[in-house]
Amino acid sequence: MGLDPYVAADFVKNAAPGFSPRVGIILGSGLGGLAEKIDTVASVDFKDIPDFPQSTVEGHAGRLILGRLGGMPVVCMQGRIHLYEGVSPEDLAVPVRVLKLLGIDILLVTNAAGSFHKDVGPGRLMLLNDHINFTSRNPLVGENDERFGPRFFSMEDAYDPTLREHLKAVAKELEIDLSEGVYLHYLGPNFETPAEINAFRVLGADAVGMSTIPEVLVARHCGLRVAAISNITNLVAGLSETKLSHEQTLECAQLAAQDLEKLVTVFLKTLKRELLKAHLKEDGNGDSE
Ligand code: HPA
Repeated sequence: MGLDPYVAADFVKNAAPGFSPRVGIILGSGLGGLAEKIDTVASVDFKDIPDFPQSTVEGHAGRLILGRLGGMPVVCMQGRIHLYEGVSPEDLAVPVRVLKLLGIDILLVTNAAGSFHKDVGPGRLMLLNDHINFTSRNPLVGENDERFGPRFFSMEDAYDPTLREHLKAVAKELEIDLSEGVYLHYLGPNFETPAEINAFRVLGADAVGMSTIPEVLVARHCGLRVAAISNITNLVAGLSETKLSHEQTLECAQLAAQDLEKLVTVFLKTLKRELLKAHLKEDGNGDSE
């Protein structure tokens, strides 16, 4: 038997009785600062949650925070688990399913990534509009869990067009230069070779990183609306003048950290009406709170 997301979700629900988050946020490398802006209701370490996979990477605190950000009830994963840590892909389905069971409608994923474009360098943010799963791994391989979603599902518009438009509008208002592109997931844990980067450019990648896609697959399977933002920490191998390292990633993640905090906070503040509209459309009632 694998990990049971229902066991993990029940534990978290007990830590914040009656609290119902609407948006889930996953924070990538060096982006933990956003978690400090949350008006916290409860905070639980991953290691204390039964049936929850564990993160081992420096810069990933490994904590689930429940509270309000921009007035929106949120649950935030400060830190995440990556495929390169050696967890079974199947276990990687658990965190997003726990967020779903806590009641979220929307998942906002962030990551640190390398950019293929010289004019979109460290300190910039990139909104994902599609992805390439280059890991050949998928948390949904195996028996389908019908409680969460169907065996086969579409990945067209996986990065929700309405949320993307909203994020672009907020970025414009805040004068944040938000680029947009395709994210490629490289398994890691090493950074790519320049030859691999050349190949990925031909495939159509605009950014490369070692996360996000497993979470997005699981989220789309269970019907969550998804938005994802890369914090560009470097130009890709071969384009970058500095040698890539995790320290460099963490350091450069700070360059756009404030922009990301502002963008996410205002996005959440102005999201309520849209969420309501989505509920009106899908449920036939506007009672989303
Ligand atoms: N490659 C893979 N993962 C990354 C990079 C990169 O260049 N930058 C930050 N995470």
